Amino acid sequence: MGMCYACGMKLEETLDDLSRRALREALSLSEDAPALLRPTQDPRFGDYQLNGAMALAKSLKRPPREIASALVTRLTDDPAVAKAEVAGPGFVNLTLDDAWLAARLAEDLRDHEADGVHPVAAPETIVVDFSSPNIAKQMHVGHLRSTILGDSLVRLLRQVGHRVIGDNHLGDWGTQFGLLIVGMREWGDEAKLVSEPVDELERVYKLGKARAKEDEAFAESARAELAKLQSGDPDNLALWKHFVAATRKTLDAIYERLDVTFDEWLGESAYDDMLPGVVAALREKGLAREDDGALCVFWGELPDAPPKLKKSKAPFIVQKRDGAFLYSTTDIATILYRRDHFEADRSIYVVGAPQAFHFQQLFALAELMGVTMRLEHVGFGAILGDEGKVLRTSEGKAVRLADLLDEAEERSLKRIEEARAEGTLRIAEEDVKAAARAIGIGAVKYTDLAQNRLSDYRFDWDRMISFKGNAAPYLQYNYARVRSIFEKAELDFETFEATPQLVEPLERSLGLRLARFGDVVHRAAEVAEPHVVAEHLYELARSFSAFYKEHTILGAEGETRASRLALTALTGRQLRRGLGLLGVDVIERM
Ligand code: ARG
Repeated sequence: MGMCYACGMKLEETLDDLSRRALREALSLSEDAPALLRPTQDPRFGDYQLNGAMALAKSLKRPPREIASALVTRLTDDPAVAKAEVAGPGFVNLTLDDAWLAARLAEDLRDHEADGVHPVAAPETIVVDFSSPNIAKQMHVGHLRSTILGDSLVRLLRQVGHRVIGDNHLGDWGTQFGLLIVGMREWGDEAKLVSEPVDELERVYKLGKARAKEDEAFAESARAELAKLQSGDPDNLALWKHFVAATRKTLDAIYERLDVTFDEWLGESAYDDMLPGVVAALREKGLAREDDGALCVFWGELPDAPPKLKKSKAPFIVQKRDGAFLYSTTDIATILYRRDHFEADRSIYVVGAPQAFHFQQLFALAELMGVTMRLEHVGFGAILGDEGKVLRTSEGKAVRLADLLDEAEERSLKRIEEARAEGTLRIAEEDVKAAARAIGIGAVKYTDLAQNRLSDYRFDWDRMISFKGNAAPYLQYNYARVRSIFEKAELDFETFEATPQLVEPLERSLGLRLARFGDVVHRAAEVAEPHVVAEHLYELARSFSAFYKEHTILGAEGETRASRLALTALTGRQLRRGLGLLGVDVIERM
C-alpha cells in the first residue's frame, strides 16, 4: 500500500475526524467536540475552515482565539495538514498538505470500481417511488421531472452502497376506470387503442367525464362498473388489463429513450387486497372514524397527531361513502407493504410539491400506526414556459413528453451540424445520430438536475443545448477532450495510473476539486439533491479548462507529464461517473 492515510474514508470525514481528535487532545476534553468543518469559498483562507473553537469557547468560557490556537498547534503535527492558522475572532483556516492530497488522488485513480466514492458504513434498504404516471392520461412534464430526479436518486443511493428498489407506483386503479369501461363501449376505437393507446384512452376519458357531469345515469353506470372491477369481475378485469397493457407500451418507449428502468412496477392496483384490512386497522386503533358515511382521520381529535396537523379542520379521508378506496388508502397499504415485504429502512417519494400536504398527512398517519421506516417526500417545482407559466404548447395544451424529447434531439442535431460546419466539433458522420441523442436527452436531464429541485425553472432550449456554461454538452465536450488527449498520447485512458504532483496553482486547485468528488456524491445522495453533483461537475470542467489552457500536458516531460495525465484521467473519470449518476451519457469523441 502507498502512503495514503485513511483512504477508505471520505475526505471531509477524515478531516473532521482528525480535527475532533485535535480539539479533544488540545483541550483535554473527556469527549469529542464537533469541529464544524466547512470548505472555504476563497482559497486565500485555505482549503477548509473550522468553526468548532468558536462554539466551544461559549461552553468552556474561554476566549475563542485561545482555543483556536491550541487547536492549530495540534493540527500542524498531522501529515494531512500543511498549514493551520487562527483567523478572525477564532476560526481556524486549514490548508491541506500537497503530497497527502496527491496520494489520495492516486488512490482514487486506482479505484476503477468507484473512482474514489466509498460505500457508506451502514447500508440501508431504500425504496424510491418515482415517475408514477396515471393510466389513460398523458405523461406530462411533471412526470418528466419525477422520472429524471428519481432515476438520478436511485443511481446516487446505489453508488454509495445502499440496496435500492426503484418502484413505479402507477396510478392504475382510480375512478377513471369506471368511466373508461363505459366510455370505451360508447365511443371506443379499437384500432386507435392499439396504434395510439394513451391518446385514445385520454380522449374517451374526457368524453366520459363530461358526460358523467350532465348525465346521472351514465355516472351511475360508471361507478357500478368501477365497483365491479374492484370486486374482481372477470370481464372488467380483462378490459382493465387491456388498458394498462396498452399504456405500458407507450410508457416503455419513453423510459427506453430516457434510459430509465424500474425494479418494481407496483401500481395502486397491486395493493387492492390489502385495503379492507387497512381501513379496519385504522378504525380499530381509533385513528379513523365515520363521518357522514365516509371513513375519516380527524387530526384535531388525535392527541398524538403532530401539532401542525391538529389545526387542520379538513379530515384525511380513507374510504368514501360508497365504500370506494382512495389514493390515500393505497398509499397507506403501500407503506405497510414496503416495510413488511422489502424490509425497507427508508421510502422516498419523488412527487411534485403540490402533493406536499398529502404526504404530510400520510406520513403522520403511518407514524401513528407505529411505522418506524423513514418516509421522505422529495418534492420539486414546476417547469415554466416563456411567459413564466407552466410549460404548455402554443395551443395551450400540456406538452407531451415524447414531443419534447423529439424536439430536444432535433435541436441538438441542428447544433451539431452547425458546429461541424464551423469546424468546432469533430463528430464523424456515422456518429452524429447517437451524439444528437446523447446531447439532446442529456441536456433535458441535466438542465433539470442542475436546479435546486424545489425551484421552478424556465425551459430555455438555447441555454440547455450549449457547449458553453453550465450545460450538459459543455461537460460532455470536456470529457471528449480528455479522451482525445489520451488518444493522442497513445495511452489507455481506462487503466492509466500515476501519482499527481500538485505544483502549479492550477494543478493544485484542480486536485483539490477532484479530491472532493466522494464527499459530493455522498452529500447529494443524503439530501436527495442531484444538483450538488451537477455543480461539482461544472466547477471541475471549468477548473480543468483553466489548467488545460495554461499548461501543456502532452508537451511536458517525465513525472510532470505523468502527473498532468493523472489529473486529466481523473477529471475524465469523474465527469463520466458524475454524468452517469445524473443519467447523462458521455460521448467518446466530439
Ligand atoms: N400517480 C400520482 C400522480 O400522478 C403520483 C404517485 C406518487 N406516488 C405515491 N406513492 N403517491 O400524481
